[in-house]
Amino acid sequence: MLASPSAKECNPGPERVGKEDNAMATSAELAPRLSDASVRKIWDVYSAFDWPDEIDPETDWCMSPELISIHGTEVWDGLSERQRKRLSLHEVVNFFSFVLYGERPLISGLMDRMYRKNTRGPITEYLHHFVDEENKHMIMFGMFCNRYGGKIYPEKKIVLPREYAKGEEDVAFFCKVLIVEELGDFYNLKMMSDPRIHPLVARINKVHHIDEARHLSFGREFLRELFEEHREAWSDEEMAAFRTWLGQYLASSWGDFYNPAVYKDAGLEDGYGIRKMALSHPTCVRFRENASAKLVDYFLDVGLLTERPEF
Ligand SMILES: [Fe+2]
Ligand SMILES: [Fe+2]
Repeated sequence: MLASPSAKECNPGPERVGKEDNAMATSAELAPRLSDASVRKIWDVYSAFDWPDEIDPETDWCMSPELISIHGTEVWDGLSERQRKRLSLHEVVNFFSFVLYGERPLISGLMDRMYRKNTRGPITEYLHHFVDEENKHMIMFGMFCNRYGGKIYPEKKIVLPREYAKGEEDVAFFCKVLIVEELGDFYNLKMMSDPRIHPLVARINKVHHIDEARHLSFGREFLRELFEEHREAWSDEEMAAFRTWLGQYLASSWGDFYNPAVYKDAGLEDGYGIRKMALSHPTCVRFRENASAKLVDYFLDVGLLTERPEF
């Protein structure tokens, strides 16, 4: 039997984010508290984990079964437990891969926005922590993917150039940040305390969630203020075009979760057919609606969206 050692429990690791009283605070009020929390919870990516030599893809769950992209479909029903576990390793490597790719433009976008007129002072100080933590996340995810999946799944997104209304590029940037972080956090929260999955995977999800709780709390408030600042200057057409883009961007973000290469690596035939089936399968559509609900509620509340996107 292959080794399945537990992940390091100490060092001291970011165990809890703390219950800061963040309700109704502005981003400028939140930023110093979040910076303090980042300093208190600082961790070292190179010593935070014990890395087992290997993870046995046929005995360990690497993703909670209910989160696997084809869970609840006829294809899933036809798989043995060993096949399902094998798929769970490739699925988690895919999940970590596209979160890593989402963090790369996030870091460069945050760097671009430091020391601007509207971010000087405590906000830029917090952005330094944000960037530091995202950089560590990329290292952590990269190490897992390369060691146990033998690869980081390549990025599929194509960014098309487009024209922006005044302030729209910043609003769109922070919407994209929130989408990758909220959807990622939905998975982190489920996996971090799932006793069925490999302890290293649970630990990586927990470490990520603890930093992300601060990023999300800042991002939600900063985006709300940014949108309030710019929305009045946008024409009705610009507002409508933005909302159409946002709904489509959110729905298309889910495409990353259904990767034909993952199905192929797990030994399943017709990866493209499986992706197509899952994208339109009612169980998978319901899952995406449910997993996106908190994020969509926020967009509706702020006015960034006026109707629920179709998943
Ligand atoms: Fe992250
Ligand atoms: Fe983050």
